[in-house]
Amino acid sequence: MILSDDFIAELKEKNDISEIISQYVDIQRKGRNMMGLCPFHAERTPSFCVYPASGSFYCFGCGAGGDVITFLRLIEHYDYLEAVKSLCERCGMNFSVSDEENELHKKKLLIYEINRESARFYYKCLLSEKGKNARDYLKNRGINSSTITHFGLGYSPNNRFSLVDYLKKRGYNEKDIILSNLAFKSQNMRELDRFYDRLMFPIIDVRGNVIAFGARTLSGKQPKYLNTSDTLVFKKSNNLFALNFAAKSSEKYIILAEGYMDVIALHQAGFTNAVATLGTSLTNSQVKIISRNCSEVMLAYDSDSPGQKASQRAISLLKANGLKVKIISIPHFKDPDEFLRSAGENASIKFEGLIKNSKNDLEYQLSDLKSKCNISTSEGKVKYLTEGAKILANSASEVEREIYSMVMSSEIGVRKSTVLIQVEKYIKQNSYKIKSKEMKNILKLTAAKSDEVNKQKQSNLRAALAEESLIACIINNRGLANTIISKVSSDLFVTEFNRKVFDSIKDIISKGKNPEISSLSCYEFSFKEIGRITKIVCSYDKTMGREECIAEYIKILEDENKKKKFQELSDIPANEIKLYIENLKGT
Ligand code: CTP
Ligand code: MN
Repeated sequence: MILSDDFIAELKEKNDISEIISQYVDIQRKGRNMMGLCPFHAERTPSFCVYPASGSFYCFGCGAGGDVITFLRLIEHYDYLEAVKSLCERCGMNFSVSDEENELHKKKLLIYEINRESARFYYKCLLSEKGKNARDYLKNRGINSSTITHFGLGYSPNNRFSLVDYLKKRGYNEKDIILSNLAFKSQNMRELDRFYDRLMFPIIDVRGNVIAFGARTLSGKQPKYLNTSDTLVFKKSNNLFALNFAAKSSEKYIILAEGYMDVIALHQAGFTNAVATLGTSLTNSQVKIISRNCSEVMLAYDSDSPGQKASQRAISLLKANGLKVKIISIPHFKDPDEFLRSAGENASIKFEGLIKNSKNDLEYQLSDLKSKCNISTSEGKVKYLTEGAKILANSASEVEREIYSMVMSSEIGVRKSTVLIQVEKYIKQNSYKIKSKEMKNILKLTAAKSDEVNKQKQSNLRAALAEESLIACIINNRGLANTIISKVSSDLFVTEFNRKVFDSIKDIISKGKNPEISSLSCYEFSFKEIGRITKIVCSYDKTMGREECIAEYIKILEDENKKKKFQELSDIPANEIKLYIENLKGT
């Protein structure tokens, strides 16, 4: 452990956990603790608890837990040092670590640097003689030169060695260029540029680092778009294009489009709150990122049928995460970029009009359904009524259900009550489904938890609970730690997981340090395991630390060990028992 206890203690002192967490999660005070909806899994009722007194959090739904450092690692996908560093920045503490621990951090910084250097190279190429074709292409697509500079667009020349040679000349070595995914080794072991003869889109994170590239073909070569694969600093499914700009927008909503060119055209027309996914369908972590920046999303997906399918999927995902959703429909054109280009000078006014006409998710789904039913026939009416009622049953607002039932009833010429009866029917079915699904989830979670983290807990419940009490006492009460450690040897622990926790804590204490939860991350515990340890630690109350209680836990462990010995004895053939007993005496 390179960071000292005092350092970590001061860091935690200066970064109040409830303050940090409330920047990401809406938490309400419940007695001494705070509760909210867990940011790490989708849920309707709060099971995410923050314990300001111990500086920790725990989710009773998914088992995520830990201290403020663990929280930042999970929510920002930071590694340990990045989390510490960001906390230092928040409170103005100085931060220095040993070279060893800094290795990974340094590699990441190097990749950022190589990416930035490459972005500069591509940009220069675009403006040079070589980039004429690419410049003409952009001009044809209506992209002006200040937009090119704003996004740092570039061109990768039609030559397999340009970037590699350029970077090598500047002192970067091949391994690091490959690690950045800007080159790969050919069969004859020569490094080749990954991107050539393509229009380059740098992908920049909210901290301003160039983390990856998107690249569009200019020659018609497939694939049309090529992206950086995942690297130490980039995961396609965890990032959004242009979030660096959109995060600074003061709009209360974000415009979510499908493609790079859509976003660029939107920004050029003044819609600086537009972002796009990076060639994947919308992921849960992208939705979490969006919900940290705003409360509403305007979907501006392509108007073709794959685009509409993707919209439907995005709507449920966004809503499930508590975001308000509106859908922009783009008449007569494939995507926002083509719409804006055709609108010329009036692009922003015209798109503003589309925003004003955007539908909420119910209106959108009903009109999408209506376009698929021929409501001039009775068959079409029945289909529209039944499927439409299912859509309305998903709305949590009674007023909304009333209004749209009325709209539907006049569209197909039936009484409003007829629509509402259908809606009620589906609401009942839904609530049954939700309840049984939640029940199944709870059962799955409890089963999975005992399996995943401490596989031996269920079959050794009595011992495991005593072990957990001892661990809770040691971490919460420094005074008790030495007493317990002197009385309990780790052989006494029945379950392996708890024994590993106990041994790690002992190791930390033997080095004269405080057994903090975050310091346990040096002992190769997974996030799930850290979560479990946090739960154990949070379950502590003072009565557990009474002398007679501690004696009882130890006695339980001794009993259980004896039982286990008998168990082992009964498994041993008679002729070996003698030897076994002699062995026991010897130890
Ligand atoms: N995409 C991708 N790989 C492909 C095709 C598409 O990663 N082979 C991603 C890109 O992010 C692209 C988005 O999906 O921007 C939308 O693709 P598409 O609709 O095919 O392209 P457009 O955005 O319309 O691209 P353009 O206008 O440049 O033709
Ligand atoms: Mn397009």
